[in-house]
Amino acid sequence: MFMERLDKILASQGVGSRKEAGLLIRRGLVEVNGAAVSRPEEKADPERDAISVAGKPLRFQRHLYLMMNKPAGVVSASRDSREKTVVDLVPEALFRRDLFPAGRLDRDTTGLLILTDDGDFAHRMLSPKKHVYKLYEATVDGPVGTSEIEKFEAGVVLEDGTVCLPAKLTAAGGGSSFKALVEIREGKYHQVKKMFLAVGRRVLCLKRVRIGSLELDKTLKEGECRELTKEELALIFQGENRRFCEKKNSNGQI
Ligand code: URA
Repeated sequence: MFMERLDKILASQGVGSRKEAGLLIRRGLVEVNGAAVSRPEEKADPERDAISVAGKPLRFQRHLYLMMNKPAGVVSASRDSREKTVVDLVPEALFRRDLFPAGRLDRDTTGLLILTDDGDFAHRMLSPKKHVYKLYEATVDGPVGTSEIEKFEAGVVLEDGTVCLPAKLTAAGGGSSFKALVEIREGKYHQVKKMFLAVGRRVLCLKRVRIGSLELDKTLKEGECRELTKEELALIFQGENRRFCEKKNSNGQI
């Protein structure tokens, strides 16, 4: 049994700030197991006790996991004094104070972004050691052929000398623009753009479409988000131990 202060429980579920939750409790609007409580410091076990606010049962979830289709023009941050952030796009019904983006997409990058208030989960998803691959669709300014593919597979050396882990590059059609798919498991700053630059190509457009085995929900419009199901969450870590390139780069890393 894990007892927590009621105002803290309510605030953690997005009911309001601690202060606002405290006011609701003092006004007699909060019940625990059918009995009204009056003091914000009273404790309950949120996993077991039936808590209701203004007659509505509280569906307690320790953590929240959202999938967003990030649009261009917003920054991957919780708050920013000047720019609109991905957390600013979360509708009130899904909002929690501690939400943050698990990993960053550049301002101009679109696509799959996970928002959560679970730090351990984000760490597990982002650590290169955990082998969670991220798949990007890139439009670049020139053709992608065997030479670029082999360089990505060997571990691209960035302009500043940083050696990247092996990555899978696939040409994905031409026409008037050159498209490619890139799969990486690191998250260095501007990584995909820098990798292409290192092989003489410039990224014109970038979209993340998959994390692990979780694909971006194609019905989500840019800027929209929704809760992930348990099954979808598990998909992120499915294939965690898959290694498309067993070759070691010059750092001796796989
Ligand atoms: N790599 C980039 O260069 N930008 C992103 O937003 C994500 C990966």
